[in-house]
Amino acid sequence: MLPTEDQSKPLPGQRKKQYRVLIADDEKATRILLTHFLKKMGYEPVDAVDGEACIEILEKEDIDLLLLDISMPKKDGFAVMSYLQEKGRTMPVIMVTASHDIPQTVKCIKMGAYEYLTKPLDVDRLQIVLRNAITESELQDKVSQLKKELKSKEIFRNIIGSTPAIRLAMEHAMQVMETELNVLILGESGTGKELFAQAIHEGSRRKNGPFVTINCAAITNELSDSLLFGHVKGSFTGANSDHTGFFEQADGGTIFLDEIGDMNLEIQAKVLRVLQEKKIRRVGEKKERAVDFRVISATHRDFSHAIHNNSFRDDLYYRLEEYPLYVPPLRDRREDIPLIARHFLEEFCSANNLELLTLTENAEEEMMEHDWPGNVRELKNAIQRTAISSKHTGEINSFILPGARSMHTAGKNASDGKLSPRNSSPRPSAKSGKIQSLDEIERLAIEEAYEACKRNPTKTAEALGIGRATLYRKLKKFGLN
Ligand SMILES: Nc1ncnc2c1ncn2[C@@H]1O[C@H](COP(=O)(O)OP(=O)(O)OP(=O)(O)O)[C@@H](O)[C@H]1O
Ligand SMILES: [Mg+2]
Repeated sequence: MLPTEDQSKPLPGQRKKQYRVLIADDEKATRILLTHFLKKMGYEPVDAVDGEACIEILEKEDIDLLLLDISMPKKDGFAVMSYLQEKGRTMPVIMVTASHDIPQTVKCIKMGAYEYLTKPLDVDRLQIVLRNAITESELQDKVSQLKKELKSKEIFRNIIGSTPAIRLAMEHAMQVMETELNVLILGESGTGKELFAQAIHEGSRRKNGPFVTINCAAITNELSDSLLFGHVKGSFTGANSDHTGFFEQADGGTIFLDEIGDMNLEIQAKVLRVLQEKKIRRVGEKKERAVDFRVISATHRDFSHAIHNNSFRDDLYYRLEEYPLYVPPLRDRREDIPLIARHFLEEFCSANNLELLTLTENAEEEMMEHDWPGNVRELKNAIQRTAISSKHTGEINSFILPGARSMHTAGKNASDGKLSPRNSSPRPSAKSGKIQSLDEIERLAIEEAYEACKRNPTKTAEALGIGRATLYRKLKKFGLN
């Protein structure tokens, strides 16, 4: 039978690529016939003489569609379907079968085969079925790609950035989030390691479980057992009630070991044991409790150095680092800086009922040139601090970096009388010969921020990028309270 359609006409999608179709059939005549028609239809045929050869080709080669016989020596069509199912491969499969094999074919359709054709083949039908199978599989690929993009957008909604460097980190996080592997997040301080840890948890099958953060640097030896594993009432002086430790709190979810590089050796040994055994024992209790958690850890430290000088156990390190994820510093993704800056500016202005300030070209240039050793955290602080002192001007033209210094020594608005970061920020003016002392500069910066934050200490400390205790000390020192 000859196909009635014009075979020179391109098939859907064919302008883009030539589809490779694998014919798995032990009958030589069928292989020859199918090869002939597939070529005429514009496909690239590949053939396999039995099920085993078929699996071998599927493993090594790029195949778009499979024409599969049921009865074959070595491995039959049913075994090939099982193989595809095991590997999670979703390629379209069309069963090519003798009519007495129909019950087996139905089994294969139930396992995910797209359609079946009976021998002797009707070439017209073969052409239509092939075309539909490819169109549907392309649609499915598109849908799953869109789903992946949607998931990625939702999960990384708090991580601003579109440079290849940050996208690569997101791509790696996407790859690992659905697995159960322990992830070690490496990167300088303030790069967003904690945001990545939260995103990985949110994208995992544990997303409805707890996300428990341990600041490893803050755990002391004396309290570690109780904090990590919990205790029962009366087990030591001061144990007035039962307490659930961090690992038990994380049961069914994720435990985030932040600043893992700062964990001391004694606690490392305890944590290693829980990671190995997935069991904990509360202080004062005999029985062990099984706990089910996944570990994400983060550090800004260089592990190789710590392992080399024996301050970090290598056996623990290898358990934590089943999948390492690197978050790049801001200076390696400079194009993200204005994006992140605008995001923080919008957030800050709306939280403080300020009209949205604009970032001038000059400010953008400045921030792109700066190396931001404190990364995103430093950028956030600089934006907030500068926004306070620029609120009357409607724009940010230059940045105030830690120490309340402007990044510039002269401002183009300085002569127009308007209040701008350059002429409103306290800074030494070598030209005028009037150099202010550091104390004076600091006092002015604090006073300005304190007033701008309506004398709210928490907001002022946040805007200045200092702790509340430091702020109180300074307010007292300068007589501002
Ligand atoms: N790409 C980003 N987009 C928006 N905000 C970000 C981004 N990266 C970090 N941040 C913000 O910057 C601050 C620091 O981020 P985070 O705490 O995740 O950094 P870190 O790498 O864990 O730092 P550290 O090593 O000091 O603990 C947070 O306020 C966070 O919300
Ligand atoms: Mg952190």
